[in-house]
Amino acid sequence: MPGRFYVTTPIYYVNDVPHIGHAYTTVTADALARWHRLIGDDVFFLTGTDEHGLKVARAAAERGLEPLAHADATSERFRETWRLLDISNDDFIRTTEPRHHRSVQAFLQRIYDNGWIEKGTYAGLYCVSCEAYYTEADLIDGNCPIHGRPVEWLEEENWFFKLSAFEEPLLEWYAAEPDAVQPEGKRNEALGIIRQGLADISITRTSIRWGVEVPWDPEHVFYVWYDALVNYVTGIGFGSDQERFERWWPAVHHLIGKDILRFHCVYWPAMLLAAGLAPPHRIFVHGFLLVGGEKMSKTRLNQIFPADLVEEFGVDGFRYQFLRDQPFGPDGDFSYEGMVTRYNTDLANNLGNLLSRVATVVAKKCGGIGPAPRPDSPLATLAADVYEATAGAWAEVAPSRALEATWRLVHDANAHLEANEPWKMDPGPELDAVMGDALEVLRIVAVLAHPAVPRTTEEIWRRIGLAGSPADERLPGAATWGRYPGGLPVQKGAPLFPRIQAG
Ligand code: MSP
Repeated sequence: MPGRFYVTTPIYYVNDVPHIGHAYTTVTADALARWHRLIGDDVFFLTGTDEHGLKVARAAAERGLEPLAHADATSERFRETWRLLDISNDDFIRTTEPRHHRSVQAFLQRIYDNGWIEKGTYAGLYCVSCEAYYTEADLIDGNCPIHGRPVEWLEEENWFFKLSAFEEPLLEWYAAEPDAVQPEGKRNEALGIIRQGLADISITRTSIRWGVEVPWDPEHVFYVWYDALVNYVTGIGFGSDQERFERWWPAVHHLIGKDILRFHCVYWPAMLLAAGLAPPHRIFVHGFLLVGGEKMSKTRLNQIFPADLVEEFGVDGFRYQFLRDQPFGPDGDFSYEGMVTRYNTDLANNLGNLLSRVATVVAKKCGGIGPAPRPDSPLATLAADVYEATAGAWAEVAPSRALEATWRLVHDANAHLEANEPWKMDPGPELDAVMGDALEVLRIVAVLAHPAVPRTTEEIWRRIGLAGSPADERLPGAATWGRYPGGLPVQKGAPLFPRIQAG
């Protein structure tokens, strides 16, 4: 039964340029989207940019630009970066688009009509970087707990969402859907916030014009977060295409960083309930990438740009690193030295080497034509186990474990070659059997690793003589041992992953 898989990344603020922290979330969402396409699911993958609010307005003013001109330029940089990284998003949403304004107005009007929004006065400590109010108790040494910067005293009359009324409904939802927020530690954190008691939240501003106008009170604009969260329903046609909306909602899988847990795991489900809609199906919360290692010890993470690393490691070297090295959940260290080691070990020495050895022997001893695998190969059972482990890990949004599992097959195929030393064998059925098995491993790995390293696996596919692309394959059938037909031309070509010296 094919499922529906709607996957989202946070929409990124255009006050910053794309850095590896953003890329980490987006590459993970992309790999998941690709995996779900392979298993035959209907997939919709949405990313985009968050362009309203004080932070963006100030960033524009600092550059001497109108907010929209600034947003146009930075939003384009996000698009470029995602093109560079082979991100296969189906749509890219900008919150300044008319379709989004319409959807935000329809969505919040519905909550208003349902009686969950009312007027009040708000005064409080505000962090411009977070675009959020804090209480004294939240502050650390008097500063914003996230940014460590001073907060400002802000007072305004505005519209409030009656979040306090949703304490019970939220707790009921959490009880009924124990897997909705993952990992469990983050679910508990969200539950802790709800159990502490929820105050009503101010959702509009009059102090700023750069936002979506409140339909029932045009003096106000919606506070950036309440406009931003609605992007997840705008992208699937909320308020404009009901049929499309119902096709995808609530089959959504939100990927977010731990910094925006409160908005996604408390406020957003409450807003959906208030609008009479189902809360999200899944929210996966990941940790932060921190910068470690020698070479980058003085660099801040937001100064490490994807394009620089792609130049050195290639697109797939980049994608592989962030999917493989950092388990999705806890915080992780990014280090340049670690990336070089990971690249050389897994990509150059393991996968790259396997293809190059196979192609060399086939050229020399099989007349350049790849033989078929044995039905009873010692690698067949391993391939079946590896498929199970890989599929299980992707289903749990554990790319690192999925790739670790897939690479067991790469590793064992290399070991199988080393044990048999086909380069010393004479041409004949025995040699053909060894090479056929290795080619079959390459075929299966090209499918299983495709979500992580799409270009490389397409190249492997082509070099072992197969038509089409691994993206056109469907699992689990494509992982069945014995589908490499044999009799196909195998090409050697340049190394997939030239070794890199740490420098
Ligand atoms: N615009 C809001 C999100 C609105 S979603 C309705 C926002 N944008 S952001 O650009 O500041 O950050 C978005 C996300 O980028 C984070 O939640 C996280 O997923 C990712 N990351 C930013 N820095 C990161 C790291 N250092 N490490 C890992 N992910 C990081 O918040």
